[in-house]
Amino acid sequence: MKHPVFAANWKMNQAPADAKAFVRQFLAYFPRQQDRLVLIFPSALALHAVTDALKDRPDIQVGVQNIYWEDNGAFTGENSAPIARAAGAKYVLVGHSERRHVFGETDEESGKKAAAAVRAGLTPLVCVGETAAQRDAGETNAVVIRQLRAALAGVGPQHIASSLVAYEPVWAIGTGKTASPADASAVHTVLRAELRTLTGERGEAVPILYGGSVNSGNATALLAAPEVDGLLVGGASLDAEGWASIVRA
Ligand code: PGA
Repeated sequence: MKHPVFAANWKMNQAPADAKAFVRQFLAYFPRQQDRLVLIFPSALALHAVTDALKDRPDIQVGVQNIYWEDNGAFTGENSAPIARAAGAKYVLVGHSERRHVFGETDEESGKKAAAAVRAGLTPLVCVGETAAQRDAGETNAVVIRQLRAALAGVGPQHIASSLVAYEPVWAIGTGKTASPADASAVHTVLRAELRTLTGERGEAVPILYGGSVNSGNATALLAAPEVDGLLVGGASLDAEGWASIVRA
């Protein structure tokens, strides 16, 4: 059994001082455990505050929510993978549904970002998921496979094997609607098969997280579903005590 992965996506919340206070509180609720990996994705501007507050807790790793694919240059407002890495990030979200649907990020752009991440030594957490209309049209599997392939197109097999994937149905993000454990499991099984196609037996080791309205009430059941190796949590990761109870699931 793989160690479960719990990832907090704080989105555009938590200024540096709030982030620091959150971490202090969270650590009090969550003593070190060897059998799980905890990731926090704060605002890039709070990255330093979070890594500093976590310096005695190597069991909790930090990432950024987005990068640009060029390493440096005239790209006002963007952060590159090497800059994020140098600032203390170890992970990066790629292809999150809000990047795709609010900011118009394409499959191809997600691919460039994942490739840039790997070049700089960041581990990508690739997010895929269908909209409600795609689900109703029976396109879920085709959509998540297309997104996964595109995001990993520029990532070599050995780096795919050390990446992470999250299935986050768009209709479940921030809506209070969650995929049932059985539905999540079915899509994770499709993603697992695709990972095996892309990287052979090593595809077994890639953690596949579920995300979309996860909370302390549904976390245990989702995590118990076959092929669900962890949880990617937005809203419910903003409360230190609630997040700690999810991470202990
Ligand atoms: P949610 O967000 O938990 O608030 O639904 C999940 C995500 O966007 O990663």
